[in-house]
Amino acid sequence: MVQFLSSGVKATERDCPPPDIPYNSVDARRWKGTLALRLADQVAIVTGASSGIGRALALELAREGARLVLVARRLADLQALAREIAGQGGTALAVQGDVTAAGDMERAVQLALDAWGRIDILVANAGIYVQAGVTQLALEQLQEAMEVNFYGAMRSVLAVLPTMRGQHRGHLVLMCSQDVMIPIPGDGPYVASKSALSGLAQTMRQELREEGIRVTAIYPGRIDTPLIAHLRMPAASRKAPPELLARHAVRSIIAGRRRLVYPASGYLYLLRELWPALGDWLIKVLHLQGWPAG
Ligand SMILES: NC(=O)c1ccc[n+]([C@@H]2O[C@H](COP(=O)([O-])OP(=O)(O)OC[C@H]3O[C@@H](n4cnc5c(N)ncnc54)[C@H](OP(=O)(O)O)[C@@H]3O)[C@@H](O)[C@H]2O)c1
Repeated sequence: MVQFLSSGVKATERDCPPPDIPYNSVDARRWKGTLALRLADQVAIVTGASSGIGRALALELAREGARLVLVARRLADLQALAREIAGQGGTALAVQGDVTAAGDMERAVQLALDAWGRIDILVANAGIYVQAGVTQLALEQLQEAMEVNFYGAMRSVLAVLPTMRGQHRGHLVLMCSQDVMIPIPGDGPYVASKSALSGLAQTMRQELREEGIRVTAIYPGRIDTPLIAHLRMPAASRKAPPELLARHAVRSIIAGRRRLVYPASGYLYLLRELWPALGDWLIKVLHLQGWPAG
């Protein structure tokens, strides 16, 4: 049997764990020994872990040896994920929480501290997609997007910050969006909320460096999750699998990168920065807003 390791290196039969150990699981990594667990015993909180990108990220962090605190509103989905992680030799706590509710993130932090006494990584990933053209826009739609995508993420950050500052170490991972770089017509509330988060991420990155706290902002393009299941995308903006994004994101976390733009086609925004008219034209002709699915 020939498989490819996540590094892209070809693995031979000899490298593969016995069939009862899932390939690339925590147990497989322990079995092989040479595949070090790069986040061994670190504690990571992931918000929005019940679905899509957050779920994939939690699995990938667990594969690297991190102990997980999974937060979202759908407890049954979190519990199923925690069982899946445990089945692969990892450890995870499922914590029902709403990032818009006062106190829920503090409770998740306290549960993590009670269980493991530290918090190394926060992935502020919970998010919603609020779309509205400016001519139909109601202020409530802006508030709804801001409440989850901006204030929800910042509630999570503020809940872990005292612990990370006390430890003089930590890593904040903020889920932004390529919509910040290439704003799509009709996405106003979503763009506004993610732009606020992206801006603050850059301030925090500089302010918290001295405290030993790193900040990574992630800018995904279109990712194949329930969030955009209602959209069919053009080839120029095809949906990428959440597992691939998660793999790149975890590599960025381990390397302490300040920013991940994935897929890299998002860097086309540089063109838009230099020549806005060309950018607007490209968004229009490539139909980057997609079409209703089905
Ligand atoms: N998919 C994309 O194309 C794409 C592109 C760029 C950025 N992103 C960002 O990536 C993140 C994850 O999105 P996704 O694509 O994985 O979408 P998804 O599959 O719909 O997952 C969204 C997650 O956020 C959680 N969530 C929503 N509101 C919440 C709240 N008030 N409190 C706690 N958790 C809440 C949901 O859990 P519950 O419903 O169980 O609470 C769910 O786990 C979002 O921030 C999104 O903006 C996605």
